Amino acid sequence: MNLEAEEKKYRLRSPKSFELFERAKQVMAGGVSHNLRYHYPYPLHIAKAKGSRFLDVDGNEYVDFWMGHYLQILGHTPEPVISAIANQVEAGLQWGIVHKLQIELAELVQQLIPSAQKVRFCCSGTEAVIYARRLARAYTGRHKFLKMEGSWHGAGTHSATIDNPGLSNSRQGGSCHDAVQNTLMSRFNDTQMVVDQIRRNANTLAAVMIEPILGEGGFIPADKRFLEVIREETRKIGALLIFDEIITGFRVGLGGAQEFYDVMPDITTLGKILGGGMPIGAITGRADILELCSPTTDLPKEKRTLIGGGTFSCAPLSMVAGLAMLNYLQKNAAEIYPALNKTGNWVRAEIERIFTLFGIPVKCTGFGSLFMTHFPKGSLQEVKDSRALQMDCDIEKREKELRLRLLNKGVYVMHGGGALSMAHTHEDLRSFLEKIKEVAEEMADIHLVKPIPSSLESIFSGAL
Ligand SMILES: Cc1ncc(COP(=O)(O)O)c(C=O)c1O
Repeated sequence: MNLEAEEKKYRLRSPKSFELFERAKQVMAGGVSHNLRYHYPYPLHIAKAKGSRFLDVDGNEYVDFWMGHYLQILGHTPEPVISAIANQVEAGLQWGIVHKLQIELAELVQQLIPSAQKVRFCCSGTEAVIYARRLARAYTGRHKFLKMEGSWHGAGTHSATIDNPGLSNSRQGGSCHDAVQNTLMSRFNDTQMVVDQIRRNANTLAAVMIEPILGEGGFIPADKRFLEVIREETRKIGALLIFDEIITGFRVGLGGAQEFYDVMPDITTLGKILGGGMPIGAITGRADILELCSPTTDLPKEKRTLIGGGTFSCAPLSMVAGLAMLNYLQKNAAEIYPALNKTGNWVRAEIERIFTLFGIPVKCTGFGSLFMTHFPKGSLQEVKDSRALQMDCDIEKREKELRLRLLNKGVYVMHGGGALSMAHTHEDLRSFLEKIKEVAEEMADIHLVKPIPSSLESIFSGAL
C-alpha cells in the first residue's frame, strides 16, 4: 500500500496538528490518553465543533462521523444541552451531596429502559461494567463470565484482560490471572456454542455479558432467537444476563436494544448518550439485584456490594446534560429514530454499491444509524459475528488508507464509518458519498481494479 502522496497531502494541510502531537508526546504516552484517538501518521487536533462538523487547529473543516465516540446523536454542541449546562454552572459544578436532578434522571431512565427498576450512576461506561460484574458475582456467589468474541466492555481489568476485538485472546500487560481463568468466550450469534458454554458451566457462571448489537466488533445485530435462548438458558441455571447498552442505549430507540428485541436482561449498563456529552455511566436493572449496594440494606455482609459511584458520580452538569438530552429524545422520538434508521440503511447500501461499481469488494455492516466499512480479502458471506471481519478483511486498508484519503477530503470516520446524528443533513451525506466515490476511484486506480464505466452514472440513484 503506497500512501506516500496521501501522507504528504495530510502533512501539508495539518502542520499545527503535527506540532501539537510532537508536544503531546513529551507529556503523554504516545501523545494521547485514549489509544483509539491515535491514527496514522499523527492525529489531527480539533479546535471546535458544531452540528455535523468540526474545525481542526489548522482551520480545516470536517464532516464528523465519530461524533464523540458515537454519543452525539443530536450533533455537536446541541442547543438544549448547552443551555441546560449554562443554567446549571452558577448553581454549582460538583456538590458531592444528593440532589433532585439525580432523581429526575434516574426516573427518566426507569421510564425509558424497559428492564430498569432501579438505577445507580457512576462516571463512565467502564465503571458501569465493573460494577455490573461485581453485582453479578455478589448476587450469584459465582465468578465466571461468558462474553462474546469481538465485544468491547471498556477498560476495566476483568473486561480488558482478554483483549477481544482483535480476537487475540492475548493477555496484555497488567492482566489479571483471575480474569483469564474466569472468562469464557462464545462466538456471537452461535446459539449452539453459547448453550454448550452455559450448560457446561452451570454451577460457576455468574453472568453472560453481551452487547445485543456488537459494537466495536462490527455493529452486528444479534439474531433475536440467539438473545432469547441466552435469556432462557441463564434463567434455568440461575446466572444473570447483562446487556451492555453503552452504545445502543437511546441510540437504536428510546428503550435501547432490549426494547427492540423484547428481551429483558437482569442488569443493563448505560453511558454515552445518557450523559448528553458529559461524563456518565449507569447500572440499572432488577431492584433485588441493585439493592445489594444500598447503604441501608439489612442483607448479610457477604451480599452487600460496594458500588463506588465515585467523587464525580451524579455531578450536576452530567445530570442536567443527560436530562436535556433524554427529554429532547423522548419528545421527538417519533421523528428522530425512523429518520436515523432510514438514513443509516441508505448510507450503508450506497457505500457498498459505490465501491462495488469500482470493482472493490466492500461490506458495510451496521444497524440503525451505526455503520462500519470492511474490505474483504476474499468472498464474504452474510456477517453474523466478528470473526470474518477480523480475520478475512484488510484492516490496514480501512484504518490507514480509507481513513487518510477521507481525512484529506474533510471527512472524519472511525473504522470506515461511525454514527449518524440528527445534525447530518442530506447535503452532508450526499457530499460524503461523493467523497467515497472519489476514494473508490483512487483506490481502483492504485490497486489496478478496472471501473465499470457504464454503471458510474447510477451512483446516488438510491433514494433517501
Ligand atoms: C459497549 C461498550 N461498553 C463499555 C464501554 C466503555 O465506556 P467508557 O468509554 O465510557 O468507559 C464502551 C465504550 O466505548 C462501549 O462501547
